[in-house]
Amino acid sequence: MTEQDTQGERLATVDRVWADPPAVHFSDPVYGLVPPNGVWRTDRGCYEFLAEHCRPGLRTLETGLGISTALFTMWGCEHTSVVPWGIEAERLREYFDRHGIDDKLLEVHVGYSHEVLPALPATPLDVVLIDGGHGFPMAALDWFYAGGRLVAGGVLVLDDLHLPSVTAGLLDFLTHDPRWTPLAQTRKWAAWRRESSGPLAEEWTAQPFFSPHTPRKA
Ligand SMILES: C[S@@+](CC[C@H](N)C(=O)[O-])C[C@H]1O[C@@H](n2cnc3c(N)ncnc32)[C@H](O)[C@@H]1O
Repeated sequence: MTEQDTQGERLATVDRVWADPPAVHFSDPVYGLVPPNGVWRTDRGCYEFLAEHCRPGLRTLETGLGISTALFTMWGCEHTSVVPWGIEAERLREYFDRHGIDDKLLEVHVGYSHEVLPALPATPLDVVLIDGGHGFPMAALDWFYAGGRLVAGGVLVLDDLHLPSVTAGLLDFLTHDPRWTPLAQTRKWAAWRRESSGPLAEEWTAQPFFSPHTPRKA
């Protein structure tokens, strides 16, 4: 048994990383955005949700890098992160070195997700976290490429629901498509279980829930 085999141990890891996060992000001089304490984070509840749904050996992928990457790695997942700036990955590796954390199961691909994801081998995934580029249509592209690799029963997490550029089209689709079962939703993030498998490209006729004759959910 590894140190991360139980949910309680994974939650203890959330406590540790939340209190002492890797300062991997940098300020954006164009928009004047400064990450508090050097890291953009989602709600703690999202990390707790991931702790519930991850375990050693699961095949996980996220767009972006940060606290979540540290957690997937420390939980013993076979984890892939796609991030445009190598400096963020270097800062995370330094954090792992300082804390004596084994990161051999972490693979970082440096590049924009819309370029990197379609070039990766389409191996199956158990958990996908979309939290990379936040301009439209980046989240939808991440869903298309990474979500299309989720196995049936795999879990999709989408962060930053407060940004219309993230939710546009995608949240509407996931709300209507019965092949995505809602698992959790807050104002900041949401999660679904995938009930189908295989690539997500299909014709509109395969999406009867989007038919002009089907009443829309709010
Ligand atoms: C909000 S932060 C991720 C926070 C992280 N999930 C956590 O829990 O700490 C957004 C990340 O997305 C990365 N990013 C920005 N544009 C991207 C893109 N086009 N493709 C992939 N990653 C991108 C940023 O470099 C940053 O690492």
